[in-house]
Amino acid sequence: MRPSGCLQNFRQSVRLGVLALCLTAGWTFQPQGEEISLLISQPNVNTTVGQDILLSVAYTCKGPPVIEWKHTSARGTSKIVECRPGSYTNVSSSYESRAKVYENGSLLLLNVNMRDSGYYLVTVREELGITVYGTILLNVYEIIYEDLHFVAVFFAILTAVSAILVCLMWLCNKSVHLIQNERHQLRESSTEATELQMMGC
Ligand SMILES: *[C@@H]1O[C@H](CO)[C@@H](O)[C@H](O)[C@H]1NC(C)=O
Ligand SMILES: *[C@@H]1O[C@H](CO)[C@@H](O)[C@H](O)[C@H]1NC(C)=O
Ligand SMILES: *[C@@H]1O[C@H](CO)[C@@H](O)[C@H](O)[C@H]1NC(C)=O
Repeated sequence: MRPSGCLQNFRQSVRLGVLALCLTAGWTFQPQGEEISLLISQPNVNTTVGQDILLSVAYTCKGPPVIEWKHTSARGTSKIVECRPGSYTNVSSSYESRAKVYENGSLLLLNVNMRDSGYYLVTVREELGITVYGTILLNVYEIIYEDLHFVAVFFAILTAVSAILVCLMWLCNKSVHLIQNERHQLRESSTEATELQMMGC
């Protein structure tokens, strides 16, 4: 009786062990199945004119992949850079000296302007040709306090001009009244004089 119970226990633990082994194998196998991946932590970036901006991505890949960045806006699509980390970096002429790709695939853009707004498409291609894509939307705004400054100056000028106009109108009104009063007095005195003359007659 006792040995068979022992055997049963042994079989059960072997089965459990095999199951556990299969599970771990499956678990460790899965990440190898997807050999390439791309993570974008911030798909929407807001900035202002003149800033340096990092379009941050992180990839996993078995070998060194080919990374490509493109910019798409209403004006069309242009290639920014193509590189293979540790091998070469090919920055297109229009982005020369203001674009840089890090080892992790992130793109650094220096001194951005309004025209840099739009979608940035990043492509990571491994040796066998398997490709993953990602996009980041960049909004470049004009610096707000300069706008406010302009509006403030405009309103100050407007207020000053209207104040001067109001003063002028008041002066005009005053002088018109003065002239009218003088004329009135003049007329009154002249009629008085004629009346007196008539009485004298
Ligand atoms: C950027 O601005 C837009 C609106 O203009 C807003 O919806 C979005 O959440 C902002 N993104 C970040 C990361 O601040
Ligand atoms: C990629 O590398 C740059 C520079 O080393 C770093 O600033 C950035 O945070 C990195 N991005 C990610 C997603 O790790
Ligand atoms: C870099 O770009 C130039 C011009 O587009 C091209 O002629 C050259 O073959 C490229 N080099 C690599 C290594 O891709």
